[in-house]
Amino acid sequence: MEAPGSGGPPPWDHTELTVGEVARRSGVAVSALHFYERQGLIASRRTRGNQRRYRRDVLRRVAFIRTSRRVGIPLTRIGEALATLPADRAPTKKDWARLSRAWREDLDARIEQMERLRDTLTDCIGCGCLSLRTCALNNPHDELSGTGTGPRRLLVDGVEDDDGSGGLPA
Ligand code: FES
Repeated sequence: MEAPGSGGPPPWDHTELTVGEVARRSGVAVSALHFYERQGLIASRRTRGNQRRYRRDVLRRVAFIRTSRRVGIPLTRIGEALATLPADRAPTKKDWARLSRAWREDLDARIEQMERLRDTLTDCIGCGCLSLRTCALNNPHDELSGTGTGPRRLLVDGVEDDDGSGGLPA
């Protein structure tokens, strides 16, 4: 991946930015920005010289993508959320509030998943290994295998795997 590039941030009063300026201000590599654009997550217009120009509000979209990726949210899910924003103008506070409301349940499930991962790894997670002393009590004879696949005490319903392999067991 290319480095974000050298130079300072774009002047605050520039309403359109080059890809290099977006990279420098967002901290996201030019190659990643091109990838986001190919995926339809961000958009630009072309100048007569075929150069990309981004509306300044693209920085907020990129910040949303970068932060969401950082906490492991799949790109497809991020794309679905961004698709609810208007494409032809800078999204307003109201637009972002709508997106945020629609995402709350998803985020809450992910937070719960992370908390379980943080808090339960010293105990039986119901994965079928039967390797801890507590497994005999919490998952005798691997009876949790009858409720689905994976670590039955660890997984939170509704949180997809990051590799896009589908949702976790219901
Ligand atoms: S930790 Fe794997 S079944 Fe208990």
